[in-house]
Amino acid sequence: MTAPALHLTGDLCLGGRRLCPGLNLHCAAGTWTVLLGPSGVGKSSLARLIAGLPCPAHLTGGIAADDGMALAGRVTLMAQTDQLLPWADALANVTLGARLRGDRPDPDRALALLGRVGLEGHADRRPATLSGGQRQRLALARTLMEDRPIVVLDEPFSALDAATRATMQDLAAEVLQGCTVILITHDPLEAARLGTGAWLLDPTGATPLGLPATRAPRPVSDPATLAAQADLYRRLMTPDHAA
Ligand SMILES: Nc1ncnc2c1ncn2[C@@H]1O[C@H](COP(=O)(O)OP(=O)(O)OP(=O)(O)O)[C@@H](O)[C@H]1O
Ligand SMILES: [Mg+2]
Repeated sequence: MTAPALHLTGDLCLGGRRLCPGLNLHCAAGTWTVLLGPSGVGKSSLARLIAGLPCPAHLTGGIAADDGMALAGRVTLMAQTDQLLPWADALANVTLGARLRGDRPDPDRALALLGRVGLEGHADRRPATLSGGQRQRLALARTLMEDRPIVVLDEPFSALDAATRATMQDLAAEVLQGCTVILITHDPLEAARLGTGAWLLDPTGATPLGLPATRAPRPVSDPATLAAQADLYRRLMTPDHAA
C-alpha cells in the first residue's frame, strides 16, 4: 500500500469549546510529521480522529488523504496509554491486530519484533508483570507489527530512558520507512531527530516549526539536530510562540 499525504482542516472543538482553531495541517506522504503543544490542547483527540476512533472532540473541516481514498483500514494508532490486553501475554498482544481481523498471525515476525524492542524471552509475560517502559515497548512492537501506510504514534517513547529511546526511535524509523507517520511528542529532541515537518498546536492555532532539511532520523549529537532542539525549546517556552 502506498502511503498518502494527509490534510487536516478546520477547528478542533470539544463541546462548544475550540481547543485549537483554524487547522490547515499538511502531513507529507511517506514522512514523519511531528505535533507538539501544551497538555490538553487536543493532540490525542486529533490522533483518535485520524484513526477513526470514537472521540468527544471533532474537527470542523475534516481529514483527507491526497489520493482521495477513505482512511478506514489504512491507519494504525499507538495510543498514549498502552491499551494492552491484561489477560493476554506479550506475544498475543503483538499479534492482536491480525487475530481481530481474522488473519493468520505471524508469530515469527512477532517474536523478531519482540526481540528488536528488547523483550526477547518475554513472549509469555503478561503486561502487569512488565515495567512501564517494557509495556510501552510492547505496545510499540504491536504497532510496528501492523502493516498500515498511515501510522499515528502518540508519545510512543515517553516512558523510556534516553539511550533506549534513541534506539526505539531508530527502530521505528527503520520499520516505518515509506509510511506517513504522525508523531505526537513533548520532546523537542525527538522532534528534531525524527520530523520532516513539525507543527506547534496551541489554543491560538497551529504554527509550522522549522526542522533541519537533512534526512531523518538524524543523529542525536548532530549539531543541526541540537540546534533544532534548542530552537524548538525556545518556541515552546515563548508564550506567544513568536519566531
Ligand atoms: N473522554 C473525554 N471526555 C471529555 N473530555 C475529554 C476526554 N478526553 C479528553 N478530553 C478533554 O479534551 C481536551 C484535549 O485532550 P487531549 O487528550 O486530546 O489533549 P492532549 O493534547 O493529548 O494532552 P496531553 O499532552 O496531556 O496528552 C482536554 O481538555 C481533555 O480534558
Ligand atoms: Mg495526549
